[in-house]
Amino acid sequence: MSLVSAAEQLEREGLERIAAATTREELEAARTALLGRKSGRLTALLGELPKLSPEEKRAAGAALNKAKLLLEGRLGEREAELAAAARSRSAPVDVTMPSRPRWRGAKHPVTLIIEEVEQIFRELGFTVALGPEAETEWYNFTALNFPPDHPAMDMHDTLYLGDDMLLRTHTSPVQIRTLQTYGAPVRIIVPGNVYRRDFFDASHAPMFAQIEGLAVDEGVSFVDLKATLTHFAQQLLGEIRTRFRPSFFPFTEPSAEMDVQCVTCQGSGCATCKGSGWLEILGAGMVHPEVLSASGVDPEQYTGWAFGMGPGRMAMARYGIPDIRALYDSDVRFLQQFAR
Ligand code: DAH
Repeated sequence: MSLVSAAEQLEREGLERIAAATTREELEAARTALLGRKSGRLTALLGELPKLSPEEKRAAGAALNKAKLLLEGRLGEREAELAAAARSRSAPVDVTMPSRPRWRGAKHPVTLIIEEVEQIFRELGFTVALGPEAETEWYNFTALNFPPDHPAMDMHDTLYLGDDMLLRTHTSPVQIRTLQTYGAPVRIIVPGNVYRRDFFDASHAPMFAQIEGLAVDEGVSFVDLKATLTHFAQQLLGEIRTRFRPSFFPFTEPSAEMDVQCVTCQGSGCATCKGSGWLEILGAGMVHPEVLSASGVDPEQYTGWAFGMGPGRMAMARYGIPDIRALYDSDVRFLQQFAR
């Protein structure tokens, strides 16, 4: 076979092989086999040239050069085609495809209540304060004027961590800690988790959130307590009726509980308020002089009022949640209802 026909054959077969390459690797293999400097087919044919007569050499040289240029050109085109195909495979865009629904996070209903309560009191000049969940008996009970044999200190009600360490049963110890650190006057709001040895049923949980409030200053009276808490209830729940009932806590004197008109039935009586038309939302009272003394504040100079409420119960009333366990299940279908 003449070198000219060999060049034509290389051209034909080369074009077929380039067209058949479907990946970059196949195309590179074709380039090496056809035009590779060391052992490519073109190199082999060029090696035959010196054996030819000058005339044959010219014809064969021209044919080989044409084959080389053609194959090089076609290799470049095929490379661009494959790159474009790879791009469209890796980022296919179907503009008619419906979008995937986005998961929106939602704040827990108890968090929503805590944030609202904090905001209402912040506007009245209160500051948010925090305290430890592992407490000593002194902060949790003694400094709060609990008598040494008070039933709340019983192993049945309190979770002890050791001899003198326990999980706080209320947020009231933060009253003592804040007064010790900052003295009077002070106005704080204290959200936090508290622990009690309780059954876990529809209305009790062994851990739950509380919000404590404390205002201590010269000349503070029960009028401040009533006016502030009534304002608070109406900010939180709208123009609603409130009432104060006498009560007892070791750390306040006098003590009271505040009820609001039932948010479910507006006072006519329903299952939420057990037919009474009222919901108890917090305990409150004038800070006991013993509590001020224990915290290093002079009860002759200063007076104060305090309250404690359960944002979990508040959330249940506000959102009509019948079972407290829903607050702890972390069921996203439940939590999703509070997305806003
Ligand atoms: N510490 C009380 C409890 O856990 C709630 C409470 C009542 C807090 C009256 C107060 C208060 O600050 O004045 O049941």
